[in-house]
Amino acid sequence: MASERLGMAALAWMALCLAAAFAVDRSNFKTCEQSSFCKRQRSVKPGSSPYRALLESLQLSQDSMKLQLVNEVNKVPLLLELYGLQGNMTRIKINELSPLRPRYEVPDVLVHDPPTTWLAVTGRDENSVELSLGDSGHKLILTGKPFRMDLLQGRELVLSVNPRGLLHFEHLRHRKDSFSDKVSSSVGSLWDKIKSLFYREEPKESAPEDGAAGEETEPALPGDQESSEKSTKSEEVSDGPNRAEEELGSWEETFKTHTDSKPNGPTSVGLDFSLPGFEHVYGIPEHADNLRLRTTEGGDPYRLYNLDVFQYELYNPMALYGSVPLLLAHNTQRTLGIFWLNAAETWVDISSNTAGKTLFGKMLDYMQGGGETPQTDVRWMSESGIIDVFLLLGPAPTDVFRQYTALTGTQALPPLFAMAYHQSRWNYNDEEDVAAVDDGFDTHDIPCDVIWLDIEHTDGKRYFTWDPNKFPQPRNMLGRLAAKRRKMVSIVDPHIKVDSGYRVHNEIRSRGFYVKTKDGSDYEGWCWPGSSGYPDFTNPEMRAWWASMFSYDQYEASMENLYVWNDMNEPSVFNGPEVTMYKDALHEGGWEHRDLHNLYGFYVQMATAQGLEQRSGGLERPFVLSRAFFAGSQRYGAVWTGDNAAEWDHLKISIPMCLSLALAGISFCGADVGGFFKSPDAELLVRWYQVGAYQPFYRAHAHLDTVRREPWLFGEENKALIRAAVRQRYALLPYWYTTFYHSYRSGQPVMRPLWVEYPDDVTTFSIDDQFLIGNALLVHPVTEQGAHGVQVYLPGKGEVWYDVHSHQKHHAPQTLYVPVIMSSIPAYQRGGSIVPRKERVRRSSDCMYRDPYTLYVALSPQGTAEGDLFIDDGHTYNFESKAQYLHRHFSFASNTLTARSADSKGVFESPAWIERVVILGAGKPAAVFLRQPGMADTRLDFQHEPETSVLTLRKPGINIGADWSISLR
Ligand code: GLC
Repeated sequence: MASERLGMAALAWMALCLAAAFAVDRSNFKTCEQSSFCKRQRSVKPGSSPYRALLESLQLSQDSMKLQLVNEVNKVPLLLELYGLQGNMTRIKINELSPLRPRYEVPDVLVHDPPTTWLAVTGRDENSVELSLGDSGHKLILTGKPFRMDLLQGRELVLSVNPRGLLHFEHLRHRKDSFSDKVSSSVGSLWDKIKSLFYREEPKESAPEDGAAGEETEPALPGDQESSEKSTKSEEVSDGPNRAEEELGSWEETFKTHTDSKPNGPTSVGLDFSLPGFEHVYGIPEHADNLRLRTTEGGDPYRLYNLDVFQYELYNPMALYGSVPLLLAHNTQRTLGIFWLNAAETWVDISSNTAGKTLFGKMLDYMQGGGETPQTDVRWMSESGIIDVFLLLGPAPTDVFRQYTALTGTQALPPLFAMAYHQSRWNYNDEEDVAAVDDGFDTHDIPCDVIWLDIEHTDGKRYFTWDPNKFPQPRNMLGRLAAKRRKMVSIVDPHIKVDSGYRVHNEIRSRGFYVKTKDGSDYEGWCWPGSSGYPDFTNPEMRAWWASMFSYDQYEASMENLYVWNDMNEPSVFNGPEVTMYKDALHEGGWEHRDLHNLYGFYVQMATAQGLEQRSGGLERPFVLSRAFFAGSQRYGAVWTGDNAAEWDHLKISIPMCLSLALAGISFCGADVGGFFKSPDAELLVRWYQVGAYQPFYRAHAHLDTVRREPWLFGEENKALIRAAVRQRYALLPYWYTTFYHSYRSGQPVMRPLWVEYPDDVTTFSIDDQFLIGNALLVHPVTEQGAHGVQVYLPGKGEVWYDVHSHQKHHAPQTLYVPVIMSSIPAYQRGGSIVPRKERVRRSSDCMYRDPYTLYVALSPQGTAEGDLFIDDGHTYNFESKAQYLHRHFSFASNTLTARSADSKGVFESPAWIERVVILGAGKPAAVFLRQPGMADTRLDFQHEPETSVLTLRKPGINIGADWSISLR
């Protein structure tokens, strides 16, 4: 037993170490050419669309329109549904009118059925119908032949659907040739087996519909009868121009040594959109690429397929750990979103009519009064499921964020500690090591909230257990951390060691909760523990059981200050195709893994977060970090950018990677500080701590083989630099917390590209080496080795920005050359904003609870400023369920700073008071008075620095919840 365990671990290790010598092995991952559906989809060329909309079939109800589309080559009818949604959105669904079996429709991602608005037919001729979409002022013109839809606002064309005729919908069909008859019949009986596994009911008899001799008819699934009755002769004809091509890989596909059995044959869906007037598109994370997406002509499309890519390469469209199928388009007039709700493997092609043009070429076009309107074309291709797409019509960036998060939910408000600094490593060796690291932060006076334990803390990679030798007294260890008001995070991966002596495995197996192979047995793959089962997180019963495993009596030694990290949840399968699960593996309901692959990690994090919530009776907010994600993952916690490397380019790319995620709803993002693989030198490490201090999730983490790199191991000078960076993070925690609160409430990203706040400034559209936090702070961290300076772009016509360190004022717009030294983190506060800070240095965020605030009031050129502050207990749901919070609003105008409630519903007693107000850009007053309701005015001490125009008001001594005003006279 022990030797078997050792052998497995050794193998996993060897695999890792062998690979560690190389960069990404591209041959492990498919190109579009090697992914048969992508190849088939891409072989459909523009302008030859076989689809016609049958206008006479149009049915209109109050809030939706239904109409049939027919493929004139194979005669397969499709059903198009169109919904006008409240809040300036439109939903388009296309499915087969009568599929042989139901096709997968993504569950659990939308927070509820989106509320609809009215639709009306406002015009019609023999080849088109005009519809009005609610009160939004949008019209949709649907053309019958060739089928397309054009969305207009007034007379302006906003977006077209299927303008190039690339709609390609592979209908479900029976396999035809004699060889495949046999296969098909065994597939048919297999389907019965699977069905009985999941439904425990007898398969219904279903007679062949159309009498096509020798064809197998798929047995009906529950609820399937109606559709099979309506079934047409769809399987008799080929499906488009490339029959020979299409046959390739349609019924079986081999990649490297892996064969995908594809019992359902070709099932892919594809559709194109054009965006006239747009040259800048963003989103569709996760890719290690620039913020602004590039055109994919001549290369591979961007791929969305959650994968564990070992040593990923930068600046390419390869898939990574997570997927959010949301694309944003932006120009000076408008921001739009296309949300393609499909959880199967997806590829996105982007092309543009201006891509190849130089600036000079564009200018020439402009001067000659000609040139086409710039346009971006986008084509989505998914392996299965249906077409379910939401058009988010903005028009402002804030509107698109509101629209997208109305569908998929906003960022969960994390507990305060989770926004502080996290110290991780694969692995802290034992309890003594943890204690030493914990003490190290105190000795070296660096704040830290959380210490992390990676896979080696478990008993032989059996999650929910502790290594009896290295971690014999986990409860003591957690208690010791709790006494310091620190937390711990332990890793709980979703692969479960196949071991009859392991309770977790036995329970999952006996309850039938594992994902099944195509033959109906428990699927096993290879991961850290060796042979592992993969719980079927798509099954709600499985998730409920998993959640129950986090209760204090189930997860041994767990305590309130223990939180959880879900890794490898793409899922990672070392010996699987592309290091993941077979697509023909089966989930609850008989769905293939193919249909829902990109949802697996989403469900793992969902179930874990539910578990942490439940263990406290629903009182405490969970913290769960996940590597894989999908649309909606923002509701369950944080994500990080996976296994990066200690290289300058990896530091640099962490900014656009997190910005792309933020645009797609997932604000709580970070990258391993220091880089996961390889060992950073002191300069890179210090710079990384500085960048991380200004990114939403701030965690240092490192690979097992790297040299130790706790902040005090690089000499006094570097330690001091790291300490200063971490302290900057802690001082700004009130601002981070408030910004997260806004994100939770209104869906606005925490970390933002500049264009989000300056939507009509084209200079900002491609910037991804600097960013905003909320709307008040602009950061341009140093990401170049040996840098002596950075070029900072300060946006906003007529605005001013204040250097947060020197308080020097700069006029905007301008590109500022800022000389830097090792301690520099160029950061600016927007004139017109008020930022709250807590400036006393403590051991952890929890120790700062009673600490006083300093308000930084940065005056606009008009002498005004505004800001706010959200406070609650920092960890429970009482702010929601009992309105126990304070939301304060501060404003400065006419030489008076006023504090009042921003939301009178919230009631909360905070012990904290205001110890200082710093006004940037102020003249020297003769006197300063504090006024509180019902009290006589009191004079305040102040100090004015004429060189920097900084006015500091000392000890106003007012409780943070009080109403007051301070006037400069
Ligand atoms: C994966 C994770 C990494 C972790 C390691 C061991 O590579 O991405 O963060 O340290 O697994 O669990």
